[in-house]
Amino acid sequence: MSNKKFQLTNLATGKSSELDARAGTIGPDVVSLAGLYKDHGVFTFDPGFMATASCESHITYIDGDAGVLLYRGYPIDQLAQHSSHLEVAYLLLNGELPNANEFRDFHDSIRRHTMLNESLLNMFHGFHHNAHPMAMVSAIVASMAAFYHDTTDIYDARHREIFAHRIIAKIPTIAAAAYKHALGQPFVYPRNDLDYTSNMLNMFFAVPCEPYTVDSLHAKAMDLLFILHADHEQNASTSTVRLAGSTGCNPYAAISAGVSALWGPAHGGANEAVLEMLEEIGSVKNVADFLRRVKDKDGGVRLMGFGHRVYKNFDPRAKIIREMCHKVLGQLGGADSPTFELALKLEEIALQDEYFVSRKLYPNVDFYSGIIYSALGIPRSMFTVMFALARTAGWVSHWLEMIADPSMKIGRPRQLYLGPTQRDYLPLVKRK
Ligand code: ACO
Repeated sequence: MSNKKFQLTNLATGKSSELDARAGTIGPDVVSLAGLYKDHGVFTFDPGFMATASCESHITYIDGDAGVLLYRGYPIDQLAQHSSHLEVAYLLLNGELPNANEFRDFHDSIRRHTMLNESLLNMFHGFHHNAHPMAMVSAIVASMAAFYHDTTDIYDARHREIFAHRIIAKIPTIAAAAYKHALGQPFVYPRNDLDYTSNMLNMFFAVPCEPYTVDSLHAKAMDLLFILHADHEQNASTSTVRLAGSTGCNPYAAISAGVSALWGPAHGGANEAVLEMLEEIGSVKNVADFLRRVKDKDGGVRLMGFGHRVYKNFDPRAKIIREMCHKVLGQLGGADSPTFELALKLEEIALQDEYFVSRKLYPNVDFYSGIIYSALGIPRSMFTVMFALARTAGWVSHWLEMIADPSMKIGRPRQLYLGPTQRDYLPLVKRK
């Protein structure tokens, strides 16, 4: 409990109540409003949850003003430099970094779960060839409940663990199958001799008719993006997973809801939108004109990959990705370099522009991630799928945290009702 106290007084009735604040380990205190309706008969109104903490969590901490991101206390730049996505997944799920034995056991368990049931794989053939991969991924993830219903007792800790390992192991296989289906190429089965990310690249890019070797820089760049996207506290898709999961639905349904929420251009769809925007701008000489359109409020154009609900400073992930962009494009050069140069110039100009400076709009994680994905051969329509693949570790960790919390309640917000007051039904013949 924080030692801060707040007093709420209804000036019309003079009734007062004391509101307790609760302190986190770091970050702002929260004011507990649970008794507000009982004491004063009013709800809070906070569209977009601008000032609302929806839950307690021990997983991820963000200081948006300082540009800080911690997973279980570890700074994102240290994890990006030294860790791997799978180790980060273990950390998010379990709260601590694994020792060598724990990591070996975790990796073995993930390896044993990488294949998809053949019937599930066959479901991909039911999709049209030009189906958006996010539509396929959310549908297949939801369908997993129909295949693994023997382990979806959410109150059984062992079932929850099997679910967690299963979905983290299978999501690269699902992503790769969505990609291969769109291409019309045969599915490539997982290879358990490869690490998590190399296996994913192999399933994406190997074909039966010629050998394919995973490039170590490609695997490192992809793994880095997965680490950076693995969690971000109560963002829209994670909150969606929590809200859906709070009903007691099976965990695959909750994760599928998260995949759908991530799809939107204001969230995970932004990296796809960034490349479309860069293509539309075309060249550095058009940047000023484009920014004029962005700043014209009636134009409805946003600088995609800029701005964030929480970061009012540099998104620490954007800096790390920009560095990796230099490395990957330095090695590969080629078609994506002019796009990267345009993005760098756009960032430079926007960061000196009063409009962006005064609103504290900085590049977010998605400003550069699409450029790396593109350089690695991932098509634009798959960008959000890559994000979903990485974020699965975070979604699962939040779902586990919520379900194991004995004080968990179904999420049920209230509203400010502005519709008609009560009125009587008129038969059709009497209506004008
Ligand atoms: N381009 C131009 N103006 C912007 C942008 C932008 N990208 N982002 C915010 N603004 C402006 C708004 O118009 C508003 O201006 P005003 O005060 O004059 O009305 C002000 O900055 C505040 O913006 P809000 O929309 O209120 O901020 P909010 O926190 O609701 O939105 C969001 C955050 C959705 C990320 C927004 O910045 C945006 O749309 N960015 C582009 C899309 C994007 O990159 N999304 C990815 C986010 S990261 C992620 O989800 C992984």
